[in-house]
Amino acid sequence: MAIERTLSIIKPDATRRNLTGKIAAKFEEAGLRIVAQKRILLTRAQAEKFYEVHAARPFFGELTDFMASGPVVVQVLEGEGAVLKNREVMGATNPKDAAPGTIRAEFAESVGENSVHGSDAPETAAQEIAFFFSGLELVG
Ligand code: CMP
Repeated sequence: MAIERTLSIIKPDATRRNLTGKIAAKFEEAGLRIVAQKRILLTRAQAEKFYEVHAARPFFGELTDFMASGPVVVQVLEGEGAVLKNREVMGATNPKDAAPGTIRAEFAESVGENSVHGSDAPETAAQEIAFFFSGLELVG
């Protein structure tokens, strides 16, 4: 399988509970390399832009309010099949459905406050990485 990069966000519920290191360790233990990382506070407008594909969903306001409610840690993860691997390590969107040992099973509080975001395909990964990082910030 090809070496890929994917965008990861450690969400405000996780940074608030001081879980950044535990979540980063899950990625590294799975063989993913953190090749870029920064802690930022999104504005509501930035969160709306990032999640614009979900603009028509009933939870859009709740989602974007939450994502702007505290610091997030944005990361670029690199490795073989990184997009799929990251999704496996995160577990299902709803923590009630997440497999044991996954980040969301261990740490997520609810479907909205679910600790992490990960790109869903290589094409979206490229767009989402470019949303947060310049090429100079990616050090593989
Ligand atoms: P994420 O991978 O960041 O992509 C979109 C997010 O919308 C998703 O994770 C969830 O956190 C959030 N989401 C999905 N369904 C719901 C819901 N029913 N209520 C609130 N938030 C949701």
